[in-house]
Amino acid sequence: MRLFPFLATSVLLALPLQAQDPFLAKPFLQVGAVPKTDRMDLVWLTQDKDAKWTVEVQAQTKGPWKAMGNPTFKLVALPEAPKHRIYATTLHGLKPGAVFHYRVSLDGQTVFQSEGHGLKTSGQPQHLVLYGDGASGSEHQKALAFQMAKQKPDAVFVLGDIVYARGRASEYLDHYFSIYNTDAADPAKGAPLLRSVPTIGVLGNHDVAFMNARGDRPSDGLAYYLYWDLPMNGPELKVAGPNTPMIQPMFWPQFLAGAGERFPKMANFSIDLGNAHWTILDSNPYVDWSDPALRAWLESDLRRAGRSTWRFVAFHHPGFNSSTAHFEDQWMRLLSPVFEKYRVQMVFSGHVHAYQRSLPLSFKPEAGAAAKFAQHRQATVNGIFSLDKTFDGLRVTKTKGIIYIISGAGGASLYNTHQDDKPETWQPFTKVMASDRYSFTLLDLKGKRLELRQIAEDGKEMDHFVLRQ
Ligand SMILES: [Fe+2]
Repeated sequence: MRLFPFLATSVLLALPLQAQDPFLAKPFLQVGAVPKTDRMDLVWLTQDKDAKWTVEVQAQTKGPWKAMGNPTFKLVALPEAPKHRIYATTLHGLKPGAVFHYRVSLDGQTVFQSEGHGLKTSGQPQHLVLYGDGASGSEHQKALAFQMAKQKPDAVFVLGDIVYARGRASEYLDHYFSIYNTDAADPAKGAPLLRSVPTIGVLGNHDVAFMNARGDRPSDGLAYYLYWDLPMNGPELKVAGPNTPMIQPMFWPQFLAGAGERFPKMANFSIDLGNAHWTILDSNPYVDWSDPALRAWLESDLRRAGRSTWRFVAFHHPGFNSSTAHFEDQWMRLLSPVFEKYRVQMVFSGHVHAYQRSLPLSFKPEAGAAAKFAQHRQATVNGIFSLDKTFDGLRVTKTKGIIYIISGAGGASLYNTHQDDKPETWQPFTKVMASDRYSFTLLDLKGKRLELRQIAEDGKEMDHFVLRQ
């Protein structure tokens, strides 16, 4: 019976080490409020306890370690979350697109070290991951995290429903940071993705203080605005004003102390990565994109995007969906004419827990459709479609119209799996649907060539096409 004493010793040894872990969430990279190729923000969470944190960066292998500015913190003190601090500092002096190393020290002792990947310039190829509807804590989410990290992407886009089920701080701790930022890659546990690759989040319906059956919204249900550190170049919005999410009014002061200026502005923004311009929109139905101020921002952003080779838009609720689930959530197709006017090539969404690829298409909504949505905030949108059936992504790689991708099979339970092999149940605009597998999207951009691959949780390719400018 020597086994038991051995186990007991292991447990005793493991406990003090775990108690010393200074992180509630280990350091992760963010693009920051004003993204640049020579810098990146580093964020981590701790208990509310005074400590002397320092961060150093080695911009190239064997180069000198340089001290970064003193980390600052914001306190999160909300009734339904453990009191904690969000620390951040900027890593600067990075080489565009190059691997760098950084280390985080507490009271002079290094407690965390990782490599990171700098943002790329417009001349460098891009290797990007996109997925939505992920952090439910499922085994599929963990396997996908492992496969995503294996791809060594330059950046990851999370297409909304970042955490389940109510956008809460505790949900980030339980099944976001703990799975996408593990110390080692393991398909049964997750991968050390967040520490080495910047992630860019898109708001979904589950990220905005999802209401429970009693009609309550959790005080920590807008954790998106606490933890993400994303571009602050979106349209101006007001707390408790139109086109913004809500929590109970009594919680605003405490929430805003943690979120600062990010709320409500950070819901919409744009970012240039390499030769691609990305416009990120909040598609929740409290937003009326026919609002003149919002529309003016969107048009001016897409007009500026004309300088980039690639123009992409990402938001959570897909306008063109063939699944029975969420079929009536069609309001975002109201923006198709704007996307077409500024020659957007592709639009990425989640919300529907499946993979779907549309034919290249253009769409003209019927008269009165925007007013109907503004009144009811839930609407099917009829209109005139023009479908490009000549594009095959192999021999014919130029399109007439926009390709709409749904990549929402990121870990939460799949929808309408029976539709997978029944194209007769799909809408005429859908070219490919895979609803019986968990998956994520890989996007490779090199000059005027784009290649998209959809990868399943076992690493197998499910769809593939090439698009050229
Ligand atoms: Fe959703």
